Order: sequence, then structure tokens, then C-alpha cells
Amino acid sequence: MTKERVTLGGKLSAVLVAAGSAVGLGNIWRFPYIAGENGGGAFLLIYIGCILLLGLPILLAEFAVGRHTHRNSVGAFKSLSKGWSFIGYNSALAAFLILGFYFVVSGWTLEYFIKSLSGDIAQYTSSAVNTELFRSFTLNPWRPVVYTAIFVLLTHVVIALGVQKGIERSSKLMMPVLFIVLIVLAVRAITMPGGLEGLRFLFTPDFSKVSAKTFLDAMGQAFFSLSISLGCMVTYASYFTRKTSLQATALNVVGLDTLVAVLAAMVIFPAVFSVGIEPTSGPSLVFITLPSIFSTMPFGAAWSAVFFLLLVLAALTSTISLHEVLTAYLHEEWHMSRRASAWCVTAATMLLSVAASLSLGAWNDFRIFGLNIFDSLDFVTANVMLPLGGLCTSLFVGWRLKRSLLHDEITNHGELRCRLFGVLVVLLRYVCPVLLLLIFLYNLGLFRL
Ligand code: PHE
Repeated sequence: MTKERVTLGGKLSAVLVAAGSAVGLGNIWRFPYIAGENGGGAFLLIYIGCILLLGLPILLAEFAVGRHTHRNSVGAFKSLSKGWSFIGYNSALAAFLILGFYFVVSGWTLEYFIKSLSGDIAQYTSSAVNTELFRSFTLNPWRPVVYTAIFVLLTHVVIALGVQKGIERSSKLMMPVLFIVLIVLAVRAITMPGGLEGLRFLFTPDFSKVSAKTFLDAMGQAFFSLSISLGCMVTYASYFTRKTSLQATALNVVGLDTLVAVLAAMVIFPAVFSVGIEPTSGPSLVFITLPSIFSTMPFGAAWSAVFFLLLVLAALTSTISLHEVLTAYLHEEWHMSRRASAWCVTAATMLLSVAASLSLGAWNDFRIFGLNIFDSLDFVTANVMLPLGGLCTSLFVGWRLKRSLLHDEITNHGELRCRLFGVLVVLLRYVCPVLLLLIFLYNLGLFRL
């Protein structure tokens, strides 16, 4: 099996595809509003702490598992230990459920991109009007469903082209474009009147807004943003070659992911302050407040088209990675052809995401434990399955996996040095499990701070 399996080309491709999975709506849409709600600068510091203590070690652990086994996420854990194969199943199921709502938000970005092309988005300065536009769009019975479906098919096309042609090439193109556009937009936002105040908000820590919840929010965000415990990184690492340095790849991915999040915040906060909107406006920040800002800019329609194209691309590289987790699983574990596997995943996620989209409007009355389908998918993945998966992965790799196996993977069988290997083991054995157990129990509401 190892022989027939495709691999990713050079060193850069490994970084690009993994970063493509990590960089997504989480960085551009979610990070700025969570940071805004948690006091800006102070949150940034805590977030970076979480990335280093939690994100980096678990990312390395997932890379090691994926590359060692050269299998999909379920097969990888199964082949290492039957008893721990549930980590793989948990990740595949979580990937499926996340796709259910991620496709819906991705569909919104597509709608906003298309509407930007006709100049519709950058038209109104009043945030009340933009709020109404957003509401009427998400509540419309068919438009969001159509856009969601188009996004599912877009993802399918890339997956159907295969790992090398589809994923590698599209990531190679998308990631650099993303950076250039973000930098241009950041420069524009910072030079707007009042823009510097936004930068001050982002980079001056205000610890008075920090509470225990800030730490938990930062941990959750770090997790989601690095695509950890959804099998994405295990699956992608299974395509890495024996020469790929896991250490360098992980460091690059973490660096790029954090950089994109900070850059996105450097676009959004200066703009928010310049137009006079509260930085704590929450999840609507991108869809509701940015159009107001574009409308005050020269060539506003073009700016909004560029920005939402950026969101579409960032979302697409993430949906591809989630889809690939499931396609690789069906292909390798159920021995289906890659084509048939991809179609099965597309069909199943299409049904789920259409239901999630409808649950915001027509089907809003249908509730699971008081939440509509969209919200319950978000809740169960982010609050239960992600921390649980991370917890078990760190326990498994820290305690159960042979130390020499981990060392061989991290150092490419002794070819590379890893001075901090001892630190990595301590983080995986003690620090990650304790922190993750806390977040897991907190999210289940078993204790309150
Ligand atoms: N990391 C992606 C983001 O920041 C989301 C994602 C999560 C993608 C999990 C794949 C797996 O948006």
C-alpha cells in the first residue's frame, strides 16, 4: 500500500498544503472577533502561548502518526493500536460534522464575493442596513442553500483532481495570493484616518479584560485554527515523503497560521476603529461591518471583491482538507475507488450542509437539545470532539507510542537534530492533557470559572 500511495512534491508543498488547511475562516473571520471580545492585545499574547504549548506539540504528534503509518486518519491510529483507533473515528466523524456548517459559512463568503462583483456589497455605509442585508440573505429559503451546494461541488472538483494535481497545485497558488491580498488590505486599513488606533488596540495588552474564559477561548481558537484533531494533519502528513522535516513543516505552519490571523486582525481593527464600530461586535464583524468600511473607500467594490475572494480561497483550502480526510478513509479502509469515495463524501456532506443551511431559516424550529442543526454541529465539534481528540492524541503519543518511533519521525531517523525532544515529550505527556482536560470539562459545563 505504501508503494502505490502518492506523495507530495517538494518541501514547500508540504508546508503549503498543511498551511492551506490551517488557514481558513478561523483566522480571518473568527480570530479578529474573538480577540476583539477579549481585549485585543492581551488575547494575542495568551493565544501565542496556547499555540506554543498546545498547538505545536499536538501538530507534531499528528504529523508523526500520519507520516509513520502512511495511512488515512482512521487507518493510522488503527494500525498503531487497535484500542486507540477511536481517535481516528472521532476525527473522521468530526471532520464530517464540521463540514456540515463550514460549507454553509463558506457559501456565504461565495455569495458576498459574487455580490461584490456587481458592487452590491460596498454600497451602504450604515451598519444597520448591512445587518439587515446579511440577515435577509441568511434567512432566505434558497439562496444560501444554492451557494452552499456550489461550494460543496467546488471542493469536490479539487478533490477529484487528486492529491498531487488538485490539492498541491491549488494550495501552491492560493496561499501566496492570500498573503499578498492581506498585506495590501492591511496597508490600506492602517492608513485610513483613525486606523492607528486599531493597531494600538491589537498590540497594547489590556489585562483588565482577561478572565479565565479568555484562556479557554484562546485554547479553543488555537485548536480550531491549526486544524488539530480532525485527522487533517494526520492525513496530509501521510503524503509527506521520508525527507520532509516534520519540525520545519510544523514550525512553518504555526508561523504562517498565526501570521495570517494577526494580518487579518490588522485589516479589521484599524478599519473598525476608523469607521467607529465596536470591536466587540462578534461573529458579524466580517459580513456586516466590513461592507460599511468598503463603502467609504475609493474603489470600494473592488476592495470588497478582493477581500471576499480571499475568504473564499481560505475557506476552500480548509474544506478540501476536511473532505480529503473522509475521501482517504473510504478509499483505503472501505476499498472503494477514489472517485466513488469522493462522490460519497460529496453527497453526504451536501445533504448535511443543506440541512444546516435550512436550519437557520425554514427549519429553524427543528431543535436538538435546544439548538438548531447549524449550531449543534458547531457546538458538538468545537466543544466536545476537538478537545477530546486532542486530549487522546497527546495521551496516546505521549504515553503509548514507542518513544523511539516518535524520535525517529521527528528527526528523520537521526538525520535531523531535535534539541527540544525532551520538552516535546513533557508537553505531550503532562501539559497538553491537563490543559485539554480543563477545556473539555469546562465546555461540557462540568465546572464554571
Ligand atoms: N483551521 C481552519 C480554519 O482556521 C478550519 C479547519 C478546522 C479546517 C479543522 C480543517 C480542520 O478555518
